[in-house]
Amino acid sequence: MRLLVTGGAGFIGSNYIRYALSAHPDCYIINLDRLTYAGNLENLKDIESSARYEFIKGDICDRKLLEDLEFDAILNFAAESHVDRSILDAAPFLQTNIAGTHTLLETARQRGCILVHVSTDEVYGSAEKGLFSENSPLLPNSPYAASKASSDLLVRAYVETHGVRAMITRCTNNYGPYQFPEKLIPLVILNAISGKPIPVYGDGMNVRDWIYVEDHCRAVDAVLHRGRAGEIYNVGSGNEMPNIELIRLLLGKIADELGMHEKDGLSGLITFVKDRKGHDRRYAIDPAKIERELGWRAETGFEDGITRTIRWYIDNRRWWERIISGEYMKYYDVQYGERLGR
Ligand code: NAD
Ligand code: TYD
Repeated sequence: MRLLVTGGAGFIGSNYIRYALSAHPDCYIINLDRLTYAGNLENLKDIESSARYEFIKGDICDRKLLEDLEFDAILNFAAESHVDRSILDAAPFLQTNIAGTHTLLETARQRGCILVHVSTDEVYGSAEKGLFSENSPLLPNSPYAASKASSDLLVRAYVETHGVRAMITRCTNNYGPYQFPEKLIPLVILNAISGKPIPVYGDGMNVRDWIYVEDHCRAVDAVLHRGRAGEIYNVGSGNEMPNIELIRLLLGKIADELGMHEKDGLSGLITFVKDRKGHDRRYAIDPAKIERELGWRAETGFEDGITRTIRWYIDNRRWWERIISGEYMKYYDVQYGERLGR
């Protein structure tokens, strides 16, 4: 099977490519990525010379480029993915997440090929209580979530109108190796290692459900191979935690891994800052459908996943030092300069 993986130089896409090349000895992967600030070919250094892999630098909005490629299925990971950036400037989110998905839908329609559209639980908005199912209403609150919800609705329309064989996955918050350090978990790990303040938005009681990235990759793969066309699958591991609890747990583990004796040294870095605008209080989905229909289940316990993640960042200092020494620091200053009183 020839797979077109879009956004494969990002966090989840690169983990998926590594997973698929090893799980499916017969698959060939074309990685199409524009290499935005979040795309990093170093994420794929260990597999870049595989005879079953090729990289193409390009935009998912480029219809002509897509017409020239040969593939049997599309996995769409490409997106602008960070809520805070969508608050600063929504325009790139509308372009890539909506117009880009539309281009891929047109391509899938023309070819008659499968499209797995990787979406997010954030399209449902904030879960005041209970769990969202695939039939819950779409009530996105951030420009990022609204752009993903829009793309999901386009996918639905192409299924209904044109019979495109597309499926949608809606996953909870991922963590693991190669995550860009603007997201909460890598930000906490790197700031703790560097002795920098750890910015906690609002009261720190916002709840997220954390899943290890490899479990998400296996879920996307299960949907590609066994999913029913036109269906939506919620993906999660039922591992809900308020941010402040997660941060304290992380700091304890980082101190252990660094062999620090006085754990309190790290908790002194916690700094409560001005809240994110429109900050969703809680995300929580029910993954019963994918578990029941496709036999998928999250396998990585949080203790295990988080320890592996912390060790990966400690062992791969060169990877993140190159990121934080470059363009990323300009964003960091805009996002946190005033909040941290600099
Ligand atoms: P990421 O920001 O790490 O990676 C996105 C990748 O897409 C980057 O490599 C970037 O260069 C590429 N890209 C951006 N615009 C492009 C364009 N126009 N054409 C081609 N490539 C482009 O994101 P991620 O965390 O890996 O997320 C991947 C997908 O999973 C996204 O669709 C996101 O909405 C979804 N998702 C993420 C999470 C999470 O916790 N990270 C949870 C659920 C769903
Ligand atoms: P994030 O990793 O940006 O994912 P998302 O907004 O898509 O859930 O943030 C996870 C949670 O952590 C969210 O409630 C916002 C919070 N947060 C902070 O408190 N401080 C930070 O510096 C960041 C980046 C996030």
